[in-house]
Amino acid sequence: MAHIKWTDEYSVGVELIDEQHKHFFGLLDEMFEAISSLDTGHKIGGVIAKLVAHTANHFATEEKYFEEFNYEYTEDHKERHRDLAATVADFESRYHEGDVEMASEMVEFLEGWIIGHIMETDKKYVDCFHEHGLC
Ligand SMILES: [Fe+2]
Ligand SMILES: [Fe+2]
Repeated sequence: MAHIKWTDEYSVGVELIDEQHKHFFGLLDEMFEAISSLDTGHKIGGVIAKLVAHTANHFATEEKYFEEFNYEYTEDHKERHRDLAATVADFESRYHEGDVEMASEMVEFLEGWIIGHIMETDKKYVDCFHEHGLC
């Protein structure tokens, strides 16, 4: 399983958002460690809970600015966030059903998702956020 690290090419040029994205990558690191540790089941549950909370908080941050700045792609972007939240909820249900194998699948999925989402979807709001003085 390949493992990705944050690099500057993922920056959207807004400090708070970059910090939140970096934290997401950090949680994926934790998930990797949990998968390879002996206490797998327990640790994975903790990381999943943190991922659920962090994605909710991060999406709320971006969406608050969309509303505030009347961002033109608000609806499309919010739909992508809802889809991800639903997928994460499915993974979480599998975990609660005792399927610890879901962890590798989840981390692989989320790595692909976060890179694609930052590069193709989040990057679209950069000009709008900068025009409103966010940096
Ligand atoms: Fe984001
Ligand atoms: Fe986003």
